[in-house]
Amino acid sequence: MHAQQSGILTPPPSPKPQMNGPTIYGVHPGHPLLYRIPASGDRPMTFSAKGLPAGLMLDPATGILRGVLARPGKYDITLQARNALGTAKRRFRIVAGDKIALTPPMGWSTWYMVHLDITDAMVRQQANAMISSGLVNYGYSFIDIDDGWNIKPSSSDPMIGGAPRDVEGNLRSNLNFPDMEALADYVHGQGLKIGIYISPGPLTCGGFEGSYRHEAQDASLFAKWGYDLLKYDLCSYRKMMKNPNDVEELKPPYQLMGSELAKQNRDFVYNLCEYGNGDVWKWGRDVGGNFWRTTGDVGYLDTPQSTLWKNVAAFGFGQAGIEKWAGPGGWNDPDNLLIGQIKWGGRLMPTPLTHNEQYTYMTLWSLMDAPLVFGGDMTQLDPFTLSLLTNSEVIDVNQDALGKQAAPVSKHGTLEVWSKPMEDGSIAVGLFNRGDRASEVTALWSDLGIRGKRTVRDLWRQEDVGKFDHEFHATVGPHGAEMFLFEKHPHQW
Ligand code: GLA
Repeated sequence: MHAQQSGILTPPPSPKPQMNGPTIYGVHPGHPLLYRIPASGDRPMTFSAKGLPAGLMLDPATGILRGVLARPGKYDITLQARNALGTAKRRFRIVAGDKIALTPPMGWSTWYMVHLDITDAMVRQQANAMISSGLVNYGYSFIDIDDGWNIKPSSSDPMIGGAPRDVEGNLRSNLNFPDMEALADYVHGQGLKIGIYISPGPLTCGGFEGSYRHEAQDASLFAKWGYDLLKYDLCSYRKMMKNPNDVEELKPPYQLMGSELAKQNRDFVYNLCEYGNGDVWKWGRDVGGNFWRTTGDVGYLDTPQSTLWKNVAAFGFGQAGIEKWAGPGGWNDPDNLLIGQIKWGGRLMPTPLTHNEQYTYMTLWSLMDAPLVFGGDMTQLDPFTLSLLTNSEVIDVNQDALGKQAAPVSKHGTLEVWSKPMEDGSIAVGLFNRGDRASEVTALWSDLGIRGKRTVRDLWRQEDVGKFDHEFHATVGPHGAEMFLFEKHPHQW
């Protein structure tokens, strides 16, 4: 088997239409649905859908699906994309029910790109770039505003200081965000979704106004403005706790905001951020969470660059053992993807990770059903970063409708094999080398719990490798990963 090469492995996208992204999507009945069909291939492209239920409308030019499903149910439709070179189809199931985030959310966040220095103009630029870079054609859809959009009461900077709430107690955005509702409308106009951020304590981590004692009011304001996701970050609330690891103290603030969000007339993806305290994966779902950070910050502000790989490896491989708590509607989140151009030492810099390390990052996060939230600048995507983020077969593993998080099946020193069962009966397999020298990594059928010949497909290179029995091995570069699909044995059909 080939050694991991540095550089681009993902084949260039075909000019023909290809449907990407999830095959299943959840929405609450009666709440607005917004979904931009991800499809790659040359433009212009015309979209259509067979079996679209009453209440939904599709814009044929953009592939943006909008509307409201009045009644609960499973709606099976066929999405179609056509351009001058051909037609692609995909079965797509919309489930109007009590669950959303049926597959891990995919998007982008302001945090690692600019930290607190965020503006309305920048968010709009990034939304535009999600479209123009083509990321949207692979399923990326959330534009998440992190800390820094509202008032910082202690600040003397007129742009961000001032009264944190108006006379009625409503949150005020700072002068870098002149109109939160218009911003949400702008993002929705592109068929994208928009996320907002606040804390259960009096202040956010950056010292901006928090939701403490205003939870109901803030939730309804976010709904009125039209936001689609809330990241609720523990921060200053921790100072009010006796023991920051105590579940009985951690649950109530998350429960409170969760129940306020559930009262709104629109869907909120609820992102719990309390750094994994009190084994949040065990109760995140009970408080209404759709994903929960299981870790601290992978690239905390002034972390030396050299520790990023250590954190990625510690956070990623450290997810072993908590897989059983993830599934449709509730996902483990080991933090964003710090690749591409990210903020370091006060300015944008290329990620300090090697190519191999970045393959490990994407391979692990995809296998683990982690939310794929890109942390870099979408207006400055180099071809390598774009190729990492837009491998449709790798994304298919992350977005698989079964929603089973991968687990390790063998570990020999620094060499690990992880596997993830897929909806169609095949198995996605990651071969990892955490060591400093290229090594052969072997996946044994006995470890994977399978028998008989399997066709093995290399997902990064998108090519079949051959048929194998009993074992499969590949040489994996230092800190690198290889990712394969062991297709379902034909006799099992
Ligand atoms: C914490 C969170 C980060 C980010 C910052 C914002 O550190 O873990 O993800 O939201 O706060 O200040």
